[in-house]
Amino acid sequence: MDRSNLMGLVTDLADRLRSARRISVLTGAGVSAASGVPTFRGEDGLWRRYRPEDLATAQAFARDPALLWEWYGWRRETIARCAPNAAHEVLARWSQGGERTTVVTQNVDDLHLKAGTERLVRLHGSIWELSCSIGCCEAGRTAWRDDRVPMPGLPRCPHCDAPARPAVVWFGEMLAEADLRAAVQATACDVFLTVGTSSLVYPAAGLVEQARLNGAFTAEINAEATPATAIVDLAIQAPAELVLAELDRLLVT
Ligand code: OAD
Repeated sequence: MDRSNLMGLVTDLADRLRSARRISVLTGAGVSAASGVPTFRGEDGLWRRYRPEDLATAQAFARDPALLWEWYGWRRETIARCAPNAAHEVLARWSQGGERTTVVTQNVDDLHLKAGTERLVRLHGSIWELSCSIGCCEAGRTAWRDDRVPMPGLPRCPHCDAPARPAVVWFGEMLAEADLRAAVQATACDVFLTVGTSSLVYPAAGLVEQARLNGAFTAEINAEATPATAIVDLAIQAPAELVLAELDRLLVT
């Protein structure tokens, strides 16, 4: 995308944002890429090197909790070294001091929280929270925070002593009802932005279409074209941290 075309699109989007009463932003792994958190798809994506069914399903955990914890331990160590970037910081600022902007994220790294984002909807959970791995442990369903890096051995549920698992949503699992409800509510907005996501994983990927049906102006900011590119009103192919910083600059001037 050449620079003058890019700046034209960013200016158009800034105008839309300026006059919007409600703004919703769906984010994905691309928003954390500049912080050093690996994405899942794309050139250096994790799912190029690993198979999701081996590492991101309840069946895989039941088969080999130690392997899964090795993988999550490595991801937690990587993320612990990462700080929020300009994309997280701009969205945090927009979310503060009022209910105008809602951020819904698929990211489990909590960098949006670290940046100070308010009323954040974490659709896929948090890598910094654990829950019980067995369905019959009622108390262990409520996630608890565990920031330890490295994790000293396999963590266990404090209620029933079964193996604890990362409180993230794995393939084949349902999203938490309250989070999904909040995300769907966020599609009732004036501008809906989808940022740094491959728009392949549902139900998150369906939110932009829902927003469009609700009458929102929809825009995508992503490094490459995705299935959302063809359905949004405006698509910007550029790094999220640069585009959001520029939008923020245009909005305050
Ligand atoms: P993906 O890894 O699928 O997509 C990240 C997108 O960000 C790609 O399209 C990249 O081109 C783009 N990208 C990379 N760097 C960027 C940058 N600096 N600025 C803008 N875009 C950039 O990540 P998600 O869409 O978040 O699920 O993946 C969705 C879900 O699939 C994840 O939440 C995870 C995964 O399996 C669970 O953990 C349940």
